Amino acid sequence: MAIPYHHFNLVTSEKPDMEMLFPSPVVLTQDELKRIAAYKAVEMVESGMVVGLGTGSTAKHAVDRIGELLHQGKLKNIIGIPTSTKTHEQALSLGIPLSDLDSHPVLDIAIDGADEIDPNLNLVKGRGGSLLREKMVEGVCKKFVVIVDESKLVKYIGGSGLAMPVEIVPFCWKFTAKRLQELFEYAGCVAKLRTFASSNGVENGGLPFVTDNGNYVVDLYFKRDIGDLKAASDAILRLAGVVEHGMFLDMATTVIVAGDHGVTIKNKIIK
Ligand code: A5P
Repeated sequence: MAIPYHHFNLVTSEKPDMEMLFPSPVVLTQDELKRIAAYKAVEMVESGMVVGLGTGSTAKHAVDRIGELLHQGKLKNIIGIPTSTKTHEQALSLGIPLSDLDSHPVLDIAIDGADEIDPNLNLVKGRGGSLLREKMVEGVCKKFVVIVDESKLVKYIGGSGLAMPVEIVPFCWKFTAKRLQELFEYAGCVAKLRTFASSNGVENGGLPFVTDNGNYVVDLYFKRDIGDLKAASDAILRLAGVVEHGMFLDMATTVIVAGDHGVTIKNKIIK
């Protein structure tokens, strides 16, 4: 049975970079850590806000929590902007009122998970395949709160050895994948088309994974640090055939990390 959130009894703080320790040693599963980070983020949601609803196993907890607080009457007049069809369905099932960017081009807050976070709060997102909608929604919110368990922290982008996804048009995808790989030859890049099976962790040469937007995803695996992230982003986006990539640079305003020793909240330093 899941441990109720209030049992974690977290200390809250407005101060940036404040570590908050759990009051007593508890052994938590990765999913419980995700839930702690998610619930902490939802404390930043206020009645009347337009809220970006993220996608993935961590963001799912945040959406559940918003639904629960609405149901209890503790939050009112929330409008959710989902970042995927999956989240759209989840939010609908919870009775969260929904809208889109056409009607609400500016959001008060968005809450979402991430696949990697570097020390400068740059992210990799999109291993769930929702990077384009996530970037569109999270690029226009006043606060972008990223929620992760500590396994997502990396020294540099690509440092987990796992995929950095790029959404591309299906037309001549091999050509685009090859050009992407060549861009990062210096970092030992290998580009692989994501298939439905490989996105679930099993390589079986299945059909291409198709995004909510009808596109394909090429996963880039780096053996070494790719260096200047802004330059890398620009180079990827210059390739015709590329729709968007999963590096979310300089977008997160707050990162909430839940780990075995507590919750850390990191705020972006505004220069
Ligand atoms: C969805 O496309 C992704 O960007 C997710 O937000 C990201 O993969 C994190 O997912 P988990 O919370 O499931 O790890």
